[in-house]
Amino acid sequence: MGGHSDIVLIDKNGIRLDGRKADELRPIKIEAGVLKRADGSAYVVWGNNMVLAAVYGPREAHPRHVQNSNRAIVQAKYNMAAFSVGDRKRPGPDRRSVEISKIISEALEAVTMTELFPRATIDVYMEVLQANAGTRCAAITAASVAMADAGIPMRGLVTGCAAGKAGDKVILDLGQEEDNFGQADVPLAIVPRTGEVVLLQMDGHLTQEEFDEAFRLATEAAVNVVYPLQVEALKRKYAGSTEDIEEGITNGGLANSVINETPSEVNADEIVEELASREEKVALEDMDDGKQGGEQ
Ligand code: CDP
Repeated sequence: MGGHSDIVLIDKNGIRLDGRKADELRPIKIEAGVLKRADGSAYVVWGNNMVLAAVYGPREAHPRHVQNSNRAIVQAKYNMAAFSVGDRKRPGPDRRSVEISKIISEALEAVTMTELFPRATIDVYMEVLQANAGTRCAAITAASVAMADAGIPMRGLVTGCAAGKAGDKVILDLGQEEDNFGQADVPLAIVPRTGEVVLLQMDGHLTQEEFDEAFRLATEAAVNVVYPLQVEALKRKYAGSTEDIEEGITNGGLANSVINETPSEVNADEIVEELASREEKVALEDMDDGKQGGEQ
């Protein structure tokens, strides 16, 4: 969040640099089962973000000391390709990607029926091929489709989406310039089936009212737009031929059960209301953004 810039992020008609309105998402495409070698995979194009997710497992966790004798662990790895950003990114893990991997692991573990697979690991790899802000949301969205594609039993899909503030306005799904020169970014991930929030961060500053508005925008877009695209992607893969459906069922049955998830039954307003009425306030974890510290 730079904040100090003369760049006009939103014009007098309320139109953003890329032509979007405040509450408009970038175009999103999701495809399931794109890799032959992985147990499950997905590819997400979200505006100018491109993310590939691959899932392996459940399989025995190694080394043994990482095993949990009661349940499986979910080990998610977020990585940005060297060529994914304007300046070549130094390969390998940095503070930012370690943080993103950790929060995505926890978010995915929260929906996985880990108790079914003691001592196992479910490995989730997310490769950002092209980055344009919002990659962690695109990555977790791809990851949960890849897990469903792998037949891993989950309580529901996880859907990511961000909102924030730029040009003094609360806006949905920040693009690169809005992220760089804007005032705040709130990435979140939700389980549309249950209304559970499994990831929530805030970078920058918002008033309570602005936060509520950002939260509402991101939640509604996740539930009403992104989530149906995830379900559609799985349907396209598994409803292609009878063989595919059978494979999906014997594979753990999840892909099939996901097909029966009905996005229309999920009401974003109800979820937002329900969350707002809860006693405990959601603790906001500051993102400790490496960008400001000069670490890239
Ligand atoms: O991608 P996301 O919004 O989840 O995370 P961020 O830390 O807010 O980064 C925003 C954007 O900054 C990324 O999507 C990249 O386009 C860019 N970035 C970069 O150019 N080089 C980095 N080392 C990290 C991020």
